[in-house]
Amino acid sequence: MYVVSNLVKVTIPNYLSSLPIPDSVGGWFRLGVKDWLALIPPTVVVGGISYYSYQTIKKAREAGSGQINPCIRKDINKVVDFIDIEDITEKASLCRCWRSKNWPYCDGSHGPHNKETGDNTGPVVVRHKPAN
Ligand code: FES
Repeated sequence: MYVVSNLVKVTIPNYLSSLPIPDSVGGWFRLGVKDWLALIPPTVVVGGISYYSYQTIKKAREAGSGQINPCIRKDINKVVDFIDIEDITEKASLCRCWRSKNWPYCDGSHGPHNKETGDNTGPVVVRHKPAN
């Protein structure tokens, strides 16, 4: 516990107070190469933490919304489609990822979605077997 306490109360404050952060806007223009080099590590750490936090919050929002449909007919309460089997000549690929621009048919949008999210969605293929 002493190590953590010393790190938080002594080491980090000493490090931060040693950084060449100027007191005025004009001071930034008077910094030397050595000063700028000294500012790179804390900038990378703050940038990395910010980026990681942003990505974590973004993923949590996407996962936590509880909605599978991101954009199809969001103005109605329930998306229901009817397709007459007679209208299917041979086969039809029906979207199950809710990303198709040609809803309810698959347009391949599941591919980029799967790549981006690590998901494994794909269409359901309905085949029409003509009566003999
Ligand atoms: S576009 Fe949605 S399953 Fe293919």
